[in-house]
Amino acid sequence: MRVVAFCGSCHKNGNTAKTLKRVLAGAQSQGAETEIIYLGDYHIKPCTGCRVCERTHQCTIKGDDIDPIHDAIRRADAVVAGTPTYYGDITGLYKLFVDRCYPFVEVVRHDAKTRELVFGSILKNIKPGVMVAVSGGMGPEIFDSHRKVTSYCFNDINAYIMREVLVPYTTWTPVNEEHPVWQEAFDAGVELAGRVKSGDHPEVVNEI
Ligand SMILES: Cc1cc2nc3c(=O)[nH]c(=O)nc-3n(C[C@H](O)[C@H](O)[C@H](O)COP(=O)(O)O)c2cc1C
Repeated sequence: MRVVAFCGSCHKNGNTAKTLKRVLAGAQSQGAETEIIYLGDYHIKPCTGCRVCERTHQCTIKGDDIDPIHDAIRRADAVVAGTPTYYGDITGLYKLFVDRCYPFVEVVRHDAKTRELVFGSILKNIKPGVMVAVSGGMGPEIFDSHRKVTSYCFNDINAYIMREVLVPYTTWTPVNEEHPVWQEAFDAGVELAGRVKSGDHPEVVNEI
């Protein structure tokens, strides 16, 4: 079982990374192999919006580091994705990653008459996921955007948000061993691994 985490902060020992690592520690305790991808280590060009990948499932952008990130997604049995809040929203780094997941999309229905547009994923293995959302001074209401974008992204890679780990107000309470999220994140990782083992996924997880 392989659990892969994606970190949308450049801080490798910041609040987001620490929380992600605790989720992975929980999964490891259940025998999972884990990997953390610090998105800041990768050169990710912005999606050009050519939409060629809707048909080919290949990205036309050359000369950046998206391939190893896509390979990590393909290999994952479960995913963990985390981002801090910048200007009331996800970070630009996280959005670069999300937008470049588009080659995994499968257009399930595209009906101009009814205006129905449904996206699924070309990836066939369903993956439970944990979303980590972090903020400094703002409260958890700010995480609606993080949730929306992450759920769209997860849809396209055939994952679903099994559990959220929300970490508001880190300006006053940074993540450390004393923080309640220390245990909560670990438990989320344990549950994540358990879900992979049980294969007990919700029925419709792959359509938006
Ligand atoms: C450019 C920038 C913008 C930020 N904007 C917000 C914000 O709008 N709301 C908020 O609550 N925190 C904001 N923060 C604070 C971060 O979300 C907070 O410090 C977080 O813990 C950083 O996560 P990290 O340690 O994983 O990098 C901002 C921080 C930076 C650097």
